[in-house]
Amino acid sequence: MSERLTKSAARNIFYGGTLFFLAIFIALVAQSHAYILSTSSNNDRLTDAVVRGKHIWEKNSCINCHTIMGEGAYFAPEVGNVWVRYGGKTDPEGAREGLKGWFAAQPTGIEGRRQMPQFNLTEQEANDLIDFLKWTSEVNTQNWPPTPAG
Ligand code: HEC
Repeated sequence: MSERLTKSAARNIFYGGTLFFLAIFIALVAQSHAYILSTSSNNDRLTDAVVRGKHIWEKNSCINCHTIMGEGAYFAPEVGNVWVRYGGKTDPEGAREGLKGWFAAQPTGIEGRRQMPQFNLTEQEANDLIDFLKWTSEVNTQNWPPTPAG
């Protein structure tokens, strides 16, 4: 065998290496996809109300001010866990009423506080939105974001 790297050896290393790492990449993508579907989201708890609530969330661009699971804008508090912060785990009815009251009371007009607009949600829209926020709070985010209000 010659001491120098021949052209064909270099080509084999290139193609072999490319195929090898492509195979690893495909395996990792498949593993992540399976993990997302089976472990890291609550697909089994998705209801029509949750889906409608997500559309209301999108239609009103709540994410232009809020973060959800750490993603979004930093003008207003994190809402991925707002259901829990309103006591939804121990008192679901109270949390629902509290959130509805919050929506209805906007804007507060309190001087020096950032303001949230009035969206004039119907009873059904508010309930769907709250179902979406409740569902979101039950996704295992591995304690993300690290500070409760984002
Ligand atoms: C223009 C910016 C803006 C938009 C858009 C907005 N919010 Fe807010 N939101 C705020 C601000 C600012 C606060 C905090 C106000 C305060 O503490 O006085 C807030 C507070 C909240 C709270 C209470 C949070 C807490 O930690 O107590 C909830 C729940 C909430 N918003 C939900 C929503 C939902 C749902 C939407 C979409 C329908 C939405 N917001 C759209 C600005 C916004």
